[in-house]
Amino acid sequence: MSATSPFLLENEKIYQDWREKKLKDYPADIEQYIVEIDNLASPTPAELKKITDIILKTNLVIYRTKNAPDESDAGKTVRILTEQAGLFRCETHRSEEQDGLVRLEVSDDSTKQGFIPYSNKALNWHTDGYYNLQTKRIKAFSMHCVRPASDGGINSFFDHELAYIKMRDENQDFVKAFRHRRAMSIPPFINANGEARQECPGAVYNIDRFYGSLHMRFTARKHNVNWRDNQGTKDAYDFLMDMLENDTSVITHKLGAGEGVLCNNVLHNRTAFEDSSDRKRLLLRGRYLERIGDVCPNANELSNKQYNAGEWT
Ligand SMILES: [Fe+2]
Repeated sequence: MSATSPFLLENEKIYQDWREKKLKDYPADIEQYIVEIDNLASPTPAELKKITDIILKTNLVIYRTKNAPDESDAGKTVRILTEQAGLFRCETHRSEEQDGLVRLEVSDDSTKQGFIPYSNKALNWHTDGYYNLQTKRIKAFSMHCVRPASDGGINSFFDHELAYIKMRDENQDFVKAFRHRRAMSIPPFINANGEARQECPGAVYNIDRFYGSLHMRFTARKHNVNWRDNQGTKDAYDFLMDMLENDTSVITHKLGAGEGVLCNNVLHNRTAFEDSSDRKRLLLRGRYLERIGDVCPNANELSNKQYNAGEWT
């Protein structure tokens, strides 16, 4: 698969063909990312096709419904929708609920203390699971809004394939730096329950072994991350951060009640927010070991053991 990958610098012609197709009619307006779904628990073939069509272009879709499920039904409903869209295998997460989703809300639960997603603080640019080992990469995630914050809690998203194109077009050394197998390393970690996570070194840009797609692991946080200590990596990082701050292709949206995001783990962030006395922000997040919109071309190569272990990378 690598021999024909557009994400290898030596494959210039294949890259240029892929790039041209990718950028042709790329959506400029947020409305082009939105799919109206009448009933999240029973999306129509036309609604699902629209989801797939947008995802294949942008790696990101925002759905919206006028018939938002109650909080008690929201998780189950979201899982029906995500399965209909092709996402079956949720990661195993310490905070997941019965439906495999995690409640993102301000929490004083001791197991969530110190983790920014469960606070009202801003979340800097990242892709999900950047600290995961290669065998547990997060390829897609969903976020469903049950209740927005009364103030703030706005998300921005940036298609990581666009980031790759802009970096490669600017300077191929940026891509070389981010393809290095120790470009970004997450140090070992022991959480409050004594569970250990081993050091996780790796590239920023990876080529998925089964899909052939581009996978990105990135965090802009300053602590608990060790960047390869050379000028090339620093320049690549600075270029990416400047892009994320200034590029007009960044999609910014505050999810309303009944709205949600499905994406192939694109770059994203969140502003800080405030809850009011009568409304507490609640999003339900799912993280998946499969991509959305893509059929895995090499799925047959997976043994049952690999599949069951989530070794999709
Ligand atoms: Fe995230």
